[in-house]
Amino acid sequence: MHVPEKLPRNFYKPLAIGAPEPYRELPVRLERMIHFLPPHLEKFRAKVPELIGTVDVLLGNLEDAIPADAKVAAREGLIALGRANDFGATGLWTRINALNSPWAVDDIVELVGALGAKLDVVMVPKVDGPWDIHYVDQLLAQLEAKHAVGKPILIHAILETAEGVKNVDAIAAASPRMHGMSLGPADLAASRAMKTTRVGGGHPDYAVLADPNGDAPRTAFQQDLWHYTVAKMVDACAANGIKPFYGPFGDFADPAACEAQFRNAFLQGCVGAWSLHPTQVDIAKRVFSPDPGEVRFAARILEAMPDGTGAVMIDGKMQDDATWKQAKVIVDLARIVAARDPALAAAYGLS
Ligand code: GLV
Ligand code: MG
Repeated sequence: MHVPEKLPRNFYKPLAIGAPEPYRELPVRLERMIHFLPPHLEKFRAKVPELIGTVDVLLGNLEDAIPADAKVAAREGLIALGRANDFGATGLWTRINALNSPWAVDDIVELVGALGAKLDVVMVPKVDGPWDIHYVDQLLAQLEAKHAVGKPILIHAILETAEGVKNVDAIAAASPRMHGMSLGPADLAASRAMKTTRVGGGHPDYAVLADPNGDAPRTAFQQDLWHYTVAKMVDACAANGIKPFYGPFGDFADPAACEAQFRNAFLQGCVGAWSLHPTQVDIAKRVFSPDPGEVRFAARILEAMPDGTGAVMIDGKMQDDATWKQAKVIVDLARIVAARDPALAAAYGLS
């Protein structure tokens, strides 16, 4: 079946009369961790004022992990904490319930009505294809128009169904409202019938066995179960100018494995990950802020090639136009981190 595409000239038009102009480029924001909070619990809501200064993004979770009988309380709790706090440069996001659930439409309608432009991003779970994005896109535009919201509220998709992975390019390109996407390894494992009960991370049985060598014991090298999906997601996001994230890591008792999973994602191109526990905030900060030694080396490359062309040697390593671009990725990120973190600014030599 041929599905006609929207004309290029219409792609950036608001979807409702009175809705704000969609962004052509994403606003520059530091989003090393998306910190999940269960908003139906007073104990967690009370922590919000002190959390705001310590996380890049605070997300009120309405979907999985919130019991069915607390869905409305979670939505109301998020509205209350959204109204009660000033978030400054910290992002305020929500994860709404799945579009096939009885709660999703009220999640969107009530949150936009109550919080308006204070709400930066709506995370949509279990996205199967661009049709899911189009639905939320249209509804958000209508609500922005109705409530005179002055800036577009962005959409972040969770990549967590086999169908979504198959359609990842079309999802990334579905709307100028797309902010990015996160890998959801738990739902994705279930959707694909992967044989793991873990939430992200490796699996000891997913390994390559070294060749036999007489009677010597054979080493098994554990592989990254998520490599293929992260790579596919990063390409879809980078090609469409949106941001890829690793999602949750469920074993809070294994910070080393969490850090390794986050770092693989960072090296492959992801800009952040979810934090489900306070200890994971620091892990994400460490991993998704570039290494000071790497930043200083990258800065030397940019300095040695002021117009970004030609070839030079630095410490015996060849540099050319392509490494100049690699260096610029690192230094650009370091500047964004430095603007928020004075200690790292000094370590980067950017203060
Ligand atoms: C996240 O939502 C996941 O399913 O991993
Ligand atoms: Mg999920």
